[in-house]
Amino acid sequence: MGDSAKHLLLVEDEAPLREAIAAQLADRGYDVEPVGSGEAALARLAEFAFDIIVTDLRLPGIDGSAVVEAAVGRYPDIVAIVVTGYGTLKDAVESIKRGAWDFVSKPFQIDELLHVLDSAMEQRRLKSENAYLRAQLEERYSFEGIIGRSRAMKQLFQLLETVAATASTILITGETGTGKEVVARAIHHNSPRRMQRFVAINCSAIPETLLEAELFGHVRGAFTGAVGNRAGRIEQAHRGTLFLDEVGTMSTALQTKLLRVLQEREFERIGDTHTTKVDVRVIAATNSDLTRMVEEGSFREDLYYRLNVIPVRLAPLAERKEDIPLLVQHFLDRFRAASPGSAVTTVSQEAMRRLMAYAWPGNVRQLENTIERALAFGAGRSTIDVLDLPAEVQQAREAVLPATIVLPEEGLDLAAVVESIERELIERSLERTGGNKGRAAQLLRLKRTTLVEKLKRYEGRSR
Ligand SMILES: Nc1ncnc2c1ncn2[C@@H]1O[C@H](COP(=O)(O)OP(=O)(O)OP(=O)(O)O)[C@@H](O)[C@H]1O
Ligand SMILES: [Mg+2]
Repeated sequence: MGDSAKHLLLVEDEAPLREAIAAQLADRGYDVEPVGSGEAALARLAEFAFDIIVTDLRLPGIDGSAVVEAAVGRYPDIVAIVVTGYGTLKDAVESIKRGAWDFVSKPFQIDELLHVLDSAMEQRRLKSENAYLRAQLEERYSFEGIIGRSRAMKQLFQLLETVAATASTILITGETGTGKEVVARAIHHNSPRRMQRFVAINCSAIPETLLEAELFGHVRGAFTGAVGNRAGRIEQAHRGTLFLDEVGTMSTALQTKLLRVLQEREFERIGDTHTTKVDVRVIAATNSDLTRMVEEGSFREDLYYRLNVIPVRLAPLAERKEDIPLLVQHFLDRFRAASPGSAVTTVSQEAMRRLMAYAWPGNVRQLENTIERALAFGAGRSTIDVLDLPAEVQQAREAVLPATIVLPEEGLDLAAVVESIERELIERSLERTGGNKGRAAQLLRLKRTTLVEKLKRYEGRSR
């Protein structure tokens, strides 16, 4: 598993020069990925945590400075080197301001570049403090402590800003650990109701019989043990926000009662003859597929529509792995703040690669726990490395195509080869997700139905 070769992204628009530099760097043991434009560089950076980026400054589209800024913004630990042409010293200085480590001027001998690379890598090893950059990142990519820079998260921030101002009912869906509760709280804290209460109730954590009393309250003598009058959570949330967590686990009888609250904003405490009116904003959350439950008849359709006025869907972490470096940094900072005097810790790029390759079935919560654990493991060291990660994360690898694709003398059957690669990748993704087809499909950016179809086809063929 020794991945000691440094991963280097080379950005150069002139193909012959690019190929020449790439070949020479590869000779010296770098694992080089050459790309021909700033756009291509940004796309690769979103997917992979390179150790080093070497970029030409003058590029036809997005220029080298912007590439550097994006690379360093995303990975504070990456080493960025720019290559400048004649008379562009000023630009070189500008790109250093934007985060480049150093520059080399064209034309250069490969040894010159290698020397700059060596010294940069050495200095990086010595330097670990990046507080300034970190602070900047936090500011730009968060909403009430919710971190993210992926397209999905930026869209979420926008949506949250708009819906927070309203009193509309919101249904948050997402797998476990994707942040449903933090999002609900963020909405409340940005709403005109922020000075009132945010009352949360987890419908799956309370036995059915108690849940009703918990939600609606009761009057004295309503049932054995009801010694006094008691306001339920719905009433407690009057003028504020009621957060109904795991709403999918509610019995149909309770669903009917809840529907009335949503339609009429009124209800009776258990055992009460008097009707109570409330002004609550309802936010519900679930990690079950309510539409399917509606089809199966276990969730009331009318209630579903009442809840799903504004749907907020939180993407699984595996679908937005570009958020991982930022989240890692966020958790590192948080744990550090919690233990004053502890050393600054960074994550090695190789460890970051494994973190980004892993499928995270427990999503952000699992990532958070992983970082906490890694900090405990690496106690006192300034860098979290691969060995500080749990075994399953250590083993995670970016799916890369086989390094050697050979075209045999006699030619080959392209369709058959493509199919066998496809089949192999599908099998691996199912292995990794413990046979979960939905997650496997996500890993391969396929629709679940497409993956299922393909599996059926293979089965038909091997029988
Ligand atoms: N985008 C995010 N930025 C920062 N922290 C996050 C983010 N998403 C989730 N977290 C953190 O991850 C943990 C889990 O979040 P939360 O409890 O909101 O998840 P959930 O979707 O309600 O999970 P479950 O379905 O298991 O209840 C929390 O500690 C939360 O602070
Ligand atoms: Mg939750």
